[in-house]
Amino acid sequence: MRDATPGVVAVEEVAGQWLLEALDLPSSSAVGFVTGCTTANLAGLAAARDALLAARGWDVATQGIQGAPRLRALVGAERHGSVDLALRYLGLGAPTPVAADAQGRMDPDALRAALGQDDAPTVVCAQAGNIHSGGFDPFAPICAAAHDAGAWVHVDGAFGLWAAASPALRHLVVGLADADSWATDAHKTLSTPYDSGVAVVRDAGALRRAFGHSADYLLHSQEPDPHELVPEMSRRARGVPVWAALRSLGRSGLVDLVDRLVRSSRGLAMGLAEVPGLTVLNDVVYTQVTVAAVDDETTLAVLARLHEDGLVYPSASRWHDRAVMRFSVSGYATDDVAVAQTIRTVWEAVEAVTLGEG
Ligand SMILES: Cc1ncc(COP(=O)(O)O)c(C=O)c1O
Repeated sequence: MRDATPGVVAVEEVAGQWLLEALDLPSSSAVGFVTGCTTANLAGLAAARDALLAARGWDVATQGIQGAPRLRALVGAERHGSVDLALRYLGLGAPTPVAADAQGRMDPDALRAALGQDDAPTVVCAQAGNIHSGGFDPFAPICAAAHDAGAWVHVDGAFGLWAAASPALRHLVVGLADADSWATDAHKTLSTPYDSGVAVVRDAGALRRAFGHSADYLLHSQEPDPHELVPEMSRRARGVPVWAALRSLGRSGLVDLVDRLVRSSRGLAMGLAEVPGLTVLNDVVYTQVTVAAVDDETTLAVLARLHEDGLVYPSASRWHDRAVMRFSVSGYATDDVAVAQTIRTVWEAVEAVTLGEG
């Protein structure tokens, strides 16, 4: 609370400002420190829901959600499941998927068509960083189409929002700052300890209206208390590790961190592409590398062998109807040695399985 712990509030507010600067987001946005990106999605989408319904004369704070005007959520076909969870927690039900391309990026023409089909208040959920391809939705045409239709754009950028910090990756995030709210994790790309998610909302008042409250025992300043911007009243000072990470990295250190993760991913992809029988399935534009063996059975056998061994632990997933191994490079300490060791370990596992030793 601003009155009781002004030092911590100041540190968190500096962290929030640095984060907005580093990610090139509007400087007057509200920043809420939450547990993770699921809750950051929840916070951004709560602000969206309440603002869109307020514009239709419906006050969620006093009237609740039952009987409210129908609100529609349009999401990319390959959004992360946490977006569905956040919408569910907010009483909005299942979203309507919009077609995505081969890298899982939302098709802006399909979005424009979907927006034109219905005049219900709408939130569009875009994505910075597909978990399989690392692909980024085309934010500029998405925001243009959504805003033409009066819709709110929320971006889930759990690990991908950090691409905005790197000049070399700016082409991936063109139009990102045109959105209305953003969700990310500091415990992924920034490598702070868990739990550390961040919700950013352009209309600072909208976030405070969604989570603010008044109680006689809380002293009130003009400026919102940090707890008025997030679902929890009491929490640890999550903004402090974010401050510490940004303070110790500095702007160039942050750029270097992000670029290093991308370089490691490219090195990993190049090495894995050399493994006989393995195919890299995605265009490696960021930190995700998704590979598969010749068939699902072999991929699953390689995964089982790797998981049993435990040295390298890619996640088992399905993408485009195939069993896949997913590598997400997000640890700050990942270096060329780790990349080489990963390639060698996967190579040996593939060899063992295909030569019948698995
Ligand atoms: C794209 C994306 N969005 C949201 C989430 C949810 O984040 P968290 O687990 O921090 O709640 C994740 C990962 O877990 C993710 O990769």
